Amino acid sequence: MGPQAEPADVLVIFGISGDLAKKMTFRALYRLELRNKLECPIIGVARNEWADDDCRGHAREAVASTVDEVDEAVLARLCDRLSYVAGDYGDAETFKRVKKAIGKAKRPVFYLEIPPSLFAPVVLNLGEAGLTDGARVVIEKPFGHDIESARELNAQLLQVLDEDQILRIDHFLGKEPVMDIAYLRFANTMLEPIWNRRYISHVQMTMAEDFGVDDRGRFYDPVGTMRDVVQNHMLQVMSLVGMEPPAGHGEDPIRDTKLNFFKAVRSADPKKCVRGQYDGYRDVEGVAKDSQTETYIALELEVDSWRWAGVPFFIRAGKCLPVRETEVNVVFQRPPRLVAGPLSAPDPQQMVIRIDPSPGARIRFLAKKAGEDAFDPADFKVLFERTPGADPEPYERLLGDALKGNNRLFTREDAVEETWRIVQPLLDEPAPVRPYEPGSWGPKEANELVKGVCAWYEPWMPDEGEG
Ligand code: BG6
Repeated sequence: MGPQAEPADVLVIFGISGDLAKKMTFRALYRLELRNKLECPIIGVARNEWADDDCRGHAREAVASTVDEVDEAVLARLCDRLSYVAGDYGDAETFKRVKKAIGKAKRPVFYLEIPPSLFAPVVLNLGEAGLTDGARVVIEKPFGHDIESARELNAQLLQVLDEDQILRIDHFLGKEPVMDIAYLRFANTMLEPIWNRRYISHVQMTMAEDFGVDDRGRFYDPVGTMRDVVQNHMLQVMSLVGMEPPAGHGEDPIRDTKLNFFKAVRSADPKKCVRGQYDGYRDVEGVAKDSQTETYIALELEVDSWRWAGVPFFIRAGKCLPVRETEVNVVFQRPPRLVAGPLSAPDPQQMVIRIDPSPGARIRFLAKKAGEDAFDPADFKVLFERTPGADPEPYERLLGDALKGNNRLFTREDAVEETWRIVQPLLDEPAPVRPYEPGSWGPKEANELVKGVCAWYEPWMPDEGEG
């Protein structure tokens, strides 16, 4: 077993004064503390000239603004763990101070909540300071901005670290309903025989958000929807829908199986991609007045495998759409036409796996419409058993796993590079950006993309009182 299997004895957070820490990290740490899952000291590092108490005050504020009913005793325990080191990330002196603060700890986890351009310099500085032996380093997306930069970043990190010391966060992998996709598929024998090209006509994946870029213009404009959520979150979800059942006794069967799936996905065809930008996006602070960045994207991917050949995967994602909803809709083959009259040409059967806002699955059967010679959808719905508020949240789960040394839910270098390989043609030859009205389903050209196979289905929204 490598160092990754041992629990951490100190957590060092670079960028503790930043936005992510304020919105996500302190909440996650508080929730881990609440469950008695924090066992080590925490050292915050940032440029601010803070004393330990300033950092604790910052933690208190962040927890107060993100947690509904704060248990003061839990918060006090969390603050007691916290100390602070001030310094510039490019200055070797900072790393000497970090080393001193770490003291005798042997298995540090370094969590880098810093701009991606600083990942490599900080890791190299950690190496210089002799801090990487036995350590794990957690980084946040984006891991590069195209295939070349992803390879370059990985090569730089690997100068100092082994691959199993690098934990790349894709917070979708920490979502319970995303993990549930694999459980549903592989725990229910009735699904496996039909989960292939003989029965499935196509798959529609939707990640709709009903809000805009808001105060994130500066981050978003050089990125766009493809890099923000498709290359990572949506492709990760796609791999769980499409991968083979993990088999064998290798060290990392699930991530190996996902990698094989990515390898089977054909590089995207620029002709099968539609990009859109909502009206008003260019007025967002930090966005260029002539920005060609997409806030919506729809694309088709094909998979060259025995299971999926000829089954298109349609993906659409965007901001300022009518609803907030993320789902996978597996659409089955249309049954053959039976006889003329009421039994002809029913709609295809569908299975929706909903990830957000409330996770569940729905199988749409077609039954007889009461009193009429016609079909009526009869839905069989399951809402996944959850205890809202008590279930581990993605950052809590992933940070907890990083501290424990469980790297199963982090993305591996080879998979990151494969996903960039898949989308790279769309970056090389971007489709023109089409305007769309906020609150609409994106540019009308997206309907052309699916023409001949299907139309986009309305996502499954929770009914009143359904969850
Ligand atoms: C982030 C993106 O990775 O995921 C955001 O940067 C997006 O643009 C967010 O809104 C969605 O995640 P969640 O968990 O809030 O649905």
